[in-house]
Amino acid sequence: MKFTLEPGTEFIVGLPGILIISLNYLSSGLFIQKAIRVVPRCSRPLDGGFLFFMIKFFGGVFMGIKGKLKNMEENIKDVFKKINNLDELEKLRIKYLGKKGEIADVFSKMGELNAEERPLIGKKTNILKNKIETLILNKKQELEEKVKRDRLKAEKIDVSLPGYKPLIGHKHPISNVVDELKDIFIGLGFSIAEGPEVESEYNNFEALNIPEYHPARDLQDTFYIDDSYLLRTHTSPVQVRTMEKEKPPIRIIAPGRVYRSDELDASHSPIFHQIEGLVIDEEISFSDLKGTIETVVKSLYGENRAIRFRPSYFPFTEPSAEVDVSCIVCNGEGCPLCSYTGWIEVLGSGMVHPNVLKMSGIDPEKYSGYAFGMGLDRIAILKYGIDDIRLFFENDRRFLHQF
Ligand code: DAH
Repeated sequence: MKFTLEPGTEFIVGLPGILIISLNYLSSGLFIQKAIRVVPRCSRPLDGGFLFFMIKFFGGVFMGIKGKLKNMEENIKDVFKKINNLDELEKLRIKYLGKKGEIADVFSKMGELNAEERPLIGKKTNILKNKIETLILNKKQELEEKVKRDRLKAEKIDVSLPGYKPLIGHKHPISNVVDELKDIFIGLGFSIAEGPEVESEYNNFEALNIPEYHPARDLQDTFYIDDSYLLRTHTSPVQVRTMEKEKPPIRIIAPGRVYRSDELDASHSPIFHQIEGLVIDEEISFSDLKGTIETVVKSLYGENRAIRFRPSYFPFTEPSAEVDVSCIVCNGEGCPLCSYTGWIEVLGSGMVHPNVLKMSGIDPEKYSGYAFGMGLDRIAILKYGIDDIRLFFENDRRFLHQF
């Protein structure tokens, strides 16, 4: 039986229909799927996909080598068109060009052909093989490019989006004051010294002429690490450290944090800041101290500020003086800030006690010196009009950004 199906032929699908197509397919080697239109007969419609499957199945089983070649030649382009990714392409490459692939299959069956057909079909197969290789190559390039394009699309940075603004910090008002004072003192020939906040009991008290029984220790109660170490109560131990390791002339300032076991309130904090000063040389007198302090206080609080030295007592200086400036708010008239005295105390000072010099290995017969200590928090409070010392330690950006 031989049937020829013209393009556009309609026929009823059912077993005979499939048989007809299969036989036709077998005999002519034509791939007729495109040429026919399927009209379902049974209640469950058979669609083109099923038909296609049947054709492929029977075609595969019965198709001869020439038919197979022709089929491949005609459809290979479409087959590659449908490929969407590199994995599918690789599978297809193996299917056609692999060791057990379609092309290898055609070559292995060359023996079935007669001597005339063989070179012809051989040539055709080689041409097809080259065609497939080119198709693979082109498809591969196309897909790789697509992958690249997709990746670029996915990784694209939208530069029009606003970035995250880094939170910029702000210099602490205490640091502003320290820097200002450093500038003033460096201008006067001082250098900067440093000491640890965990200090020995010896440096903090003993070497500053405050022995164990001395009542001055009670005024500076602090946090003890153990029997011999504590959180320094003032920056004065930096005097001891400097004198122990340096020979006069000495001219240093030492800013830093200090601790006392004070209750926290608007004007007291267990942590606060000081700046220490020490000058040791031959023939240093109280007038040197006065001149320096006057220069510093005036550059800090203004030229017109009145200054007074008031006799005082510190165990490590003799004589000692406290320095007041005329009240910044009332200019000496009297107001709540200065407790109606007209004066605000800004520092303690004095001539270094001979015992202190001696204990640190400096000959008091040859050398003399002066020292002073200022509370930095107080200076910042007066300078910026801050009414609560606790604000310095909260690190609230809204506060810090005002200075
Ligand atoms: N260390 C003292 C205190 O914290 C302040 C002081 C007074 C420092 C007199 C000095 C000085 O160097 O000479 O109360």
